[in-house]
This record gives sequence, structure tokens and C-alpha cells, in this order.
Amino acid sequence: MPLSTKLNQPSKIAIIGNGVIGNLLAFRCHQLSYNYVVVTRDNQKIELDVSDIDNRQYRFHLPVGSLNSVAESDIIIIPIKAYQVADFIEQAHSYIKPWQTIVLLHNGMGTIERVRQQLPHNNLLAATTTYGAFKPQVDQLAIKGCGETQLGWIQCNVADHKVEIQNMLSALLPPSHWHTDILFPLWIKLAINAAINPLSALYKVKNGELAQAKYQIQIAAICDEITLIMQHLGFELESDRLINAVKQVIQQTRDNYSSMNRDLQAKRKTEINFINGYIVEQAARFNLPCPVNLALCREIRQREVST
Ligand code: PAF
Repeated sequence: MPLSTKLNQPSKIAIIGNGVIGNLLAFRCHQLSYNYVVVTRDNQKIELDVSDIDNRQYRFHLPVGSLNSVAESDIIIIPIKAYQVADFIEQAHSYIKPWQTIVLLHNGMGTIERVRQQLPHNNLLAATTTYGAFKPQVDQLAIKGCGETQLGWIQCNVADHKVEIQNMLSALLPPSHWHTDILFPLWIKLAINAAINPLSALYKVKNGELAQAKYQIQIAAICDEITLIMQHLGFELESDRLINAVKQVIQQTRDNYSSMNRDLQAKRKTEINFINGYIVEQAARFNLPCPVNLALCREIRQREVST
């Protein structure tokens, strides 16, 4: 039985990790007076300094907890890197109860299939957001752009609290849009990341530089390959839709460095296997050509090992 039903109080949220989106969600939970906990590895106290889009400053205490605090939550939001999701669920498995709702929120695709196998009985949601923020220090969050959030149910086995959960999640990173088929917005976001992330990382430029004429052929080729896969998956769209979505985000985030640019710069592992790598895997399923996304995967992997 959901904890909140037992105690007759609003649902409690567990936010996994102390990353950018995790901190952004924690800040919003704090503003909305939600009952929440941030699950970290070291369980250390954190005072978070936040500067918002209008440069207003906030400081608040993050309620941190260790893995076992997952068991006391109703909604578990997992805003960690795609390559960390399966391991997290494995580690947290004994604390996750079948009535809890899991929310996946990360760049890239390929985790849904695995999480459904790991947690077949849980409510599962996927979401994607275009909010922009970065962490100048581990205890700082700078919010750079208010975007919007797309959400949708992957599976809903326990109907209890469905409306309450939707309302709570909708208020976190608004405006929020709910989709009956969340896979379509996830593919659009995948195309945005597949173009902006590797190009900005390989050419070592801010997102805005990618508006230059010299990058347009490559951006169009990346989007053409994705369009073909999406059409095979049954989505009706033309390549221009993806190209325009990429151009719009390049414009909206022109002063930012992409996450892959930052990861390579800091010599961290990138999300390439869940972005362009996922696209190459899907192309192979349908026997479709995918040379441009494949070349980007190889180049980024090469940089990962050589930096
Ligand atoms: O990964 C990122 O950096 C972001 O998802 C995006 C939208 C490409 C903006 O930088």
C-alpha cells in the first residue's frame, strides 16, 4: 500500500542523485513545499546555493538520505545519466516496492526496455525536459533557461494516486505536457541530442556556434537517418521537423555548452551509447543505413579513451 495512503498525507518524492536536473527538481520541491528526499551515495549534508534565471539567490538545506530512504517514498525520480540507471535499480531493488512510481528523466534512450524487465510491476513514466542549468560547484546550481517538460506513462499498473502523481509532477518543471505516446517526444529530444551533443563536443564549441552554415549538412544528415528509423517505427514525420527542432534548441541554448561537451572537457564518460549509439542499434534492427551517426559514435568513443 502506498506510504501516503497509510499515513494519509501527500506523496513523498525521492530524487536520485545530486546532479543538475536532480538539484533543479529539489529546488522546485523546496519551493512547492513537497515532502521529498535527495538520495546520494555519501549521504552528506548539502546547503544548496541556487541562482535563478533572474539572478535571484536562494540557499536551502537539501534533505539527503541513503538508498534505504527509497523505501519510504511514493515517487522515485531518476534524473541520473542513462548509463547509470540499470545499476542504480539493481542496487536499490530490495528497497523498491511494487506500488511505487518510477520516473525516468535523462538524455538518450534505451533504458525503458531494461527498467521494464527489472521492475515489471511498478508504475513507470518517462519524461524529458529542456530546462537549462549547470553546477559551477557541487553545492551550487545556476538556472540558465526555463524550458518545458514532456511526460507520459510507459506502464501504469497501480491506478491509486494517478491524478495526484500527475499533478505533482506537472508542477515541477512547467509547462508540462502529457502524451499518450511519450516515445514520440523522446525521439524528437533524441534527435536534438544526437545533433547538438557530439558536434559541440567534437568541435569544442558552445551550442550557438552550430547555427553556422558549415555545420548544416552534418545536422541534416544526422536528422535524415533518424527520420528513416522513426518512419519504420510508425511515426509520421519528415526530416525537416527534426532539423527545425534542432535549430530551435541551438538558438534557445546558444550560450550553453552541451552536456557532452562538458563531459569530454572534464574527461568523464559521455552518454554517446544512449544517444547516437541507440540510433545506430535501432537502424541495425531495420537494416537501415546509419553512417553519419555511426561515425560520430566512433569519434566520441575515441576521444573518451584518448582524453
Ligand atoms: O545535453 C544537453 O546539453 C542538453 O540536452 C541540450 C538540449 C543539448 C542543450 O545543451
